[in-house]
Amino acid sequence: MERFKGQVAVISGGADGLGKGIARRIASEGGHVALFDRNASLLQATTNEFRQEGLSASAHVADVALEDQVQKAYQQVLKTYGKIDAMVHAAGIVGPTSTRITEYPTAAFDEIYAVNLRGTFLMAKFALQAMEPAGYGRILLIASIAGKEGNPGMAGYSATKGGVIGLVKGIGKEFAQSGITVNGLAPAVIKTAMNADTHPDQLAYMTAKIPMGRLGTVEEVAAMGAWIVSPECTFSTGFVFDLSGGRATY
Ligand SMILES: NC(=O)c1ccc[n+]([C@@H]2O[C@H](COP(=O)([O-])OP(=O)(O)OC[C@H]3O[C@@H](n4cnc5c(N)ncnc54)[C@H](O)[C@@H]3O)[C@@H](O)[C@H]2O)c1
Repeated sequence: MERFKGQVAVISGGADGLGKGIARRIASEGGHVALFDRNASLLQATTNEFRQEGLSASAHVADVALEDQVQKAYQQVLKTYGKIDAMVHAAGIVGPTSTRITEYPTAAFDEIYAVNLRGTFLMAKFALQAMEPAGYGRILLIASIAGKEGNPGMAGYSATKGGVIGLVKGIGKEFAQSGITVNGLAPAVIKTAMNADTHPDQLAYMTAKIPMGRLGTVEEVAAMGAWIVSPECTFSTGFVFDLSGGRATY
């Protein structure tokens, strides 16, 4: 398949996990992937890995929580590649787990807000500024099942992912007649580095809630994520897609 031939896609959190998996899929279908990540060494390693596989990729160091860095990275992409057809926002952090709100440090809440919600706002804002004049664009903002249902012990994560869902619904409608779609994805637990440090009790709680009785895989996220930002996805916007092995009830 060559669904992304001639296209340019920005992928935040592209150095690892779900962002990397979706980026590989888009690049293997002919697209150029501009990877944004704050982990400079991992970002370079991933970009090199992609290039060795014959894929077209560029590295842009940026912390999604910081407006000047996000804006500069978008400017680099536009200057070098001329346009942005798709944007996948996968950068995110999990914050404290197995921690009741009464013990949840306020500084940790401020940090997770800055990355997961402010970062999503910034990534979407500058993508839409670039896409609107072209009259075409596909945006995917990665939320979580925690944003729909709430995970106990993860106040910051649940709240910020709920915020991402609100953003998808609001701006999806705002741009509904512009040729640009804005959708979300609410995965249950997927096997990535993100949950390597998650407390085993928290992980067991989340896995037990999945009727299929297993974790999701990066490839499963990549297949759905790539479709959502491909030209094939034309009549869905402001929607949050499910990827939860049967856990989600809406
Ligand atoms: N893995 C899961 O089980 C799961 C489930 C539901 C939702 N999600 C969401 O999917 C997204 C990706 O998760 P993952 O599992 O791939 O995580 P990961 O930790 O494997 O990868 C995240 C990437 O984002 C980068 N990153 C983190 N903070 C950043 C920042 N401020 N600026 C720029 N880059 C930053 C990291 O360096 C890393 O490369 C996150 O938003 C996460 O909340 C993950």
